[in-house]
Amino acid sequence: MKNFTYSNPVKIIFGKNTIPALAVEIPKNARTLILYGGGSIKRNGVYDQVIETLNGKIHFEFSGIGANPEYETCLKAIELIREKNIDFLLAVGGGSVIDATKFIALASQAEGDLWEIVTKYKYPYKAMPFGTVLTLPATGSEMNCNAVITKAETHDKKSFNTPLVFPRFSILDPETTYSLPARQIANGVIDTFVHTTEQYLTYPVGGALQDYFSEAILKVLVKNGEQALKVPKNYEVRANLMWASTWGLNGWIAQGVPEDWATHMIGHELTAFFGLDHAQTLAIVLPGVLDVMHEEKADKLLQMGERVFGISEGNKEERVFAAIHSVDSFFRGMGVGTHLSNYGLGKEAIDKVVERFRERGWILGEHQNITPEMVEKILIKRL
Ligand code: NZQ
Ligand code: ZN
Repeated sequence: MKNFTYSNPVKIIFGKNTIPALAVEIPKNARTLILYGGGSIKRNGVYDQVIETLNGKIHFEFSGIGANPEYETCLKAIELIREKNIDFLLAVGGGSVIDATKFIALASQAEGDLWEIVTKYKYPYKAMPFGTVLTLPATGSEMNCNAVITKAETHDKKSFNTPLVFPRFSILDPETTYSLPARQIANGVIDTFVHTTEQYLTYPVGGALQDYFSEAILKVLVKNGEQALKVPKNYEVRANLMWASTWGLNGWIAQGVPEDWATHMIGHELTAFFGLDHAQTLAIVLPGVLDVMHEEKADKLLQMGERVFGISEGNKEERVFAAIHSVDSFFRGMGVGTHLSNYGLGKEAIDKVVERFRERGWILGEHQNITPEMVEKILIKRL
């Protein structure tokens, strides 16, 4: 196991009817800006619960943060923050709203070209404090200090991370997820699955606890993912998925072990150019990465195959490919297409993505050996 230093200060408030905790968690006398997306929180009652709890406290609203949140939208929120002297932010929604809030928390305290926060990691010395009410389990953004922001003008989707943007608290009420459409349930399960594999499906370094933890997350997803699609309001299923997604990317399972992230890096370009949902891109790319990199990842693929999918028959190579096939069919079982053609994309799309990797000179993977040529090989397998 490698050396590590780990600290995660996010206070998690988990369970039924936990939104009223906002009354104590938001500082007294704060001038709060509530940030949300396209209105799902108005339709499922979450907005009413938040407003009821904030009754009597000074608050303003900023809505319309879309999926794959845009820099341009964030700038409008910053104008409002300056105009209304806001000093606390409350993100209510999924990863997009939370990520936008993280960027806004930083950018509202910065000067100059604010896009350089994302491109050059030019952070101010502090961020505005914020909390979250999570309504879509997927990204882990509620308990990490990462964010992904898109500049619409140039189709750039980029991530950054700084401890400055750990939420002060996150409220996780699984009942808020009952209103999710099937597509978003599936997206959340697949995103969590791939966060886990990015930190687990590399090569063994003797991190037994990290491995068992990762396998536990994957098993929870396999057991509950399809259940969530079939049974609309099962609290236990939703609670397990919500907690698993937080653990998929709260930093814990990455400590002391190598990390990959090639699938995410390739996937972000598919979203930036063609607008696919984040998880749809991952469902396409991961089986291709595992296929092309199967020799380097063989030990972990065998381990996952056996411990998560119960694969024990066949020789080593057969078991490796059975494990990759199990991942692909799990994604398809969640109703998500795992090939570019499922989304009307072909070879031209691959060329565009590969060209961008060439331009940027990016090399990916835990061994830093996934060149643009290998990205092409991976995507060709997913036509
Ligand atoms: O905008 P509203 O109306 O709220 O609708 C949203 C949105 O259309 C809807 N939704 C959310 N909660 C709902 C609901 N609909 C009904 N009932 C509810 N309870 O779901 C749609 C998608 O929401 P979004 O926030 O975009 O989804 P997700 O949480 O999957 O976030 C995706 C974004 O997070 C980034 C992705 O790249 C993408 O931009 N990621 C962030 C990460 C991080 N911060 O650590 C890591 C991830 O790998 C990921 O890259
Ligand atoms: Zn992700």
